[in-house]
Amino acid sequence: MTQPPPPLIVANWKMCGLGPEVGEARRLAEALQAAPSRARVAICPPATLLERIGRALTGSPVRVGAQDVHAEPCGAHTGDVSVDMLVDAGASFVIVGHSERRTAYGETDAQVAAKARAALAGGLEAIVCVGETAEEHAAGLTAEVVRRQARDSLPPEAAARPFALAYEPRWAIGAGRTPGPEEIMRAHAALREVLRSVGGAAATAPILYGGSVKPENAAAILALDEVGGALVGGASLPVDTFLRIVRAGG
Ligand code: PGA
Repeated sequence: MTQPPPPLIVANWKMCGLGPEVGEARRLAEALQAAPSRARVAICPPATLLERIGRALTGSPVRVGAQDVHAEPCGAHTGDVSVDMLVDAGASFVIVGHSERRTAYGETDAQVAAKARAALAGGLEAIVCVGETAEEHAAGLTAEVVRRQARDSLPPEAAARPFALAYEPRWAIGAGRTPGPEEIMRAHAALREVLRSVGGAAATAPILYGGSVKPENAAAILALDEVGGALVGGASLPVDTFLRIVRAGG
């Protein structure tokens, strides 16, 4: 029997973390050095900590990533950061299209696709997020909504570069509740269809689940068909809970 590929477990610290949290990242890396995990592990701290944490994790199995990026390489975009800046700061990953950005800043699928395209071209592994609202979920539209979002948020370059999709039901994020196993598998199966239609390397790209992942539910979620990892918000700080989730990935 062939081993499934290692899961990708990503911490999304959102707008949390100051200098002392560099020590938290180091603690996580040391724990994983002492007892390695099969999982690929990344921390996406706020932009202000990216470089410091990247430096603290040099030589460790833990990578760093950003939580957003601008699609353009440079120019008059006050407050934004580019792919090259993130790479320069030590990032290997970038989350794009997180629902908090789609909701708070009105990011569209087309903007998300442009960000993902820039990220892939610049050598970052994009984590492209999709997910339905509570209303869409209640109306039974999950598969249809995430299929459309994924189709419109993935650039053609996704066929040739490593990236991940993340299924994050909006109503599950920070809510303490998750979809049932059948619902997660249905959404992931719908997303797999989209990835197969993109073709090339996209056909086997990991599909992460995100939304109230905790140590108590991680093993069951990670064992589901087509769940290739997890995107973890609230349970990723302090790092002890995140480490338990990583361990649940093997
Ligand atoms: P949560 O957030 O784990 O706190 O639900 C997940 C996310 O927003 O990526």
